[in-house]
Amino acid sequence: MGRRPRTIEVADDGWSVSILDQTALPHRVVVRTVTTCAEMAEAIRTMRVRGAPLIGAAAAYGLCLALRTDPANAAVDAAMTMLRATRPTAVNLAAALARLDAVVRPLPLGSRVAAAYAEAAALCVEDVAINQAIGDHGAALLRTVAAADGRVQVLTHCNAGYLATVDWGTALAPVYRAHDGGVPVHVWISETRPRGQGALTAWELGQAGVPHTVIADNAAGHLLGTGKIGICLVGTDRTTATGDVCNKIGTYLKALAARDNDVPFYACVPGPSIDWSLRSGADIPIEERDGDEVRRVSAGDGSGTMVRLVPDGTPVANPAFDVTPGRLVTGLITERGICVASAAGLAGLYPERARA
Ligand code: MRU
Repeated sequence: MGRRPRTIEVADDGWSVSILDQTALPHRVVVRTVTTCAEMAEAIRTMRVRGAPLIGAAAAYGLCLALRTDPANAAVDAAMTMLRATRPTAVNLAAALARLDAVVRPLPLGSRVAAAYAEAAALCVEDVAINQAIGDHGAALLRTVAAADGRVQVLTHCNAGYLATVDWGTALAPVYRAHDGGVPVHVWISETRPRGQGALTAWELGQAGVPHTVIADNAAGHLLGTGKIGICLVGTDRTTATGDVCNKIGTYLKALAARDNDVPFYACVPGPSIDWSLRSGADIPIEERDGDEVRRVSAGDGSGTMVRLVPDGTPVANPAFDVTPGRLVTGLITERGICVASAAGLAGLYPERARA
């Protein structure tokens, strides 16, 4: 896999933050410079940056930008409140803010900005290493499926590729590592209405030369039922200590169809996406997004023109995530290895967290 555009990085001036604006993809590659905490909050809320690990990194840098303006406790509290309110489901966002807060709060005001930038950078470096390790564990699995079937047919949902992280991705990391290692792999990408993150997955796999095909969301059950899929790989926005997996809306239906057809269904779960405080997926807050995302669709020409799909004023609901119970998940692919999607499985890989 060759050099990819960076999803987020500190700019050459050493303090402002460059983000790849994902609302312009797949039509245009647009890099925006973010200079304030409020701008970063807007970028997260409107999904210019998106994907659980990436919004954690973006929130961390948002807090750095806030500290540059005012490093006092009251300003830190206000910035954290603003950033936390942007997107409630991915645990990475709140966890990244808590991590930076724990570092800066004990420090004198004059040392806080530098310490925050250093911690945000460390978080990004860790994200890359975690995803690469998930890639290696998952690629071994794909190699096994390919050895049996000749070519491994992966079904994925949403975008859990490098665009959703600092690099590599979660669910696509095994695909990239397998492809780079010579394993014949083809990826079926569900469109992921209403935001169409499947187009992002198609864009990044296309750039990397990984064979892929986009399907309408409703086609997944048919493919699973007719033997076209060897393995399902999805990401997660929050996984409970008991192995319930919250991910993009539509994931649960795929898990049900996979189980009915005995197709292995794996979630790729970085440690920072595990919420050790929760024992049930029912307790995960599910983001309800603006109904216009369902009512309207982009004209698809990169112009920003939106086309209405339903009668004017139609009431719509737009839950952005769903929960797949651990019992429907074949396994969790983490940076520490693969485990059963259960409290015992996760405790085996993260004994120190499970005990805490
Ligand atoms: O609403 P999004 O696009 O931020 O949702 C992203 C997902 O649900 C991804 O599948 C998830 O973050 C996977 S982990 C990279």
